[in-house]
Amino acid sequence: MATGRPCIVISDEEQGYDLDLFCIPKHYVNDLERVYIPHGLILDRTERLAREIMCDMGGHHIVALCVLKGGYKFFADLLDYIKALNRNSDRSIPMTVDFIRLKSYCNDQSTGEIKVIGGDDLSTLTGKNVLIVEDIIDTGKTMKTLLQLLKRYNPKMVKVASLLVKRTPRSVGYRPDFVGFEVPDKFVVGYALDYNEYFRDLNHICVISESGKEKYKA
Ligand code: HPA
Ligand code: MG
Repeated sequence: MATGRPCIVISDEEQGYDLDLFCIPKHYVNDLERVYIPHGLILDRTERLAREIMCDMGGHHIVALCVLKGGYKFFADLLDYIKALNRNSDRSIPMTVDFIRLKSYCNDQSTGEIKVIGGDDLSTLTGKNVLIVEDIIDTGKTMKTLLQLLKRYNPKMVKVASLLVKRTPRSVGYRPDFVGFEVPDKFVVGYALDYNEYFRDLNHICVISESGKEKYKA
């Protein structure tokens, strides 16, 4: 996985931090195991990704495409940092935004088929520099399929920024252009990542506890 820029690699041995060291919503204290990536570190890493994105995509209008719902926090903070760069440097790039949701066909059995829901007509991406912003790349199947789909609309350039990439044997080998953190094969929540829609209202990225899984089971 040595292609592209380096990211923060969280090892399989990483234990994270005791919940009592941070502020956690009371309604979740029994549902989480550990704080894995504190909110402040997410923001600091995002600030740096904003610089790298501007460096690689600079010079042309960018369409920032948020993959909902999980990507919304990363998207909002990343764009804030890009806006700060734009207003504080001699060079600046105009940016427009769009929001999509992806539904996998067939019960998420990863048939490789997806449906894009919402957002503007994808033909608006023709000739544009597109930055897809995603919360996590797990197997990578969905992103690969999305990229294939977008190609049909002839964008000038497509780059992908994902806050997290999971190290998993189920990976199809897809690696995004910009990555915040590489994480072990554990289920993480918080900072808009969910477990059956819960935990999006949590600032830190945490590992869910067994009781949490049971409590919020679908
Ligand atoms: N957490 C939340 N959503 C996810 C994950 C995860 O670990 N992997 C794929 N989608
Ligand atoms: Mg996602």
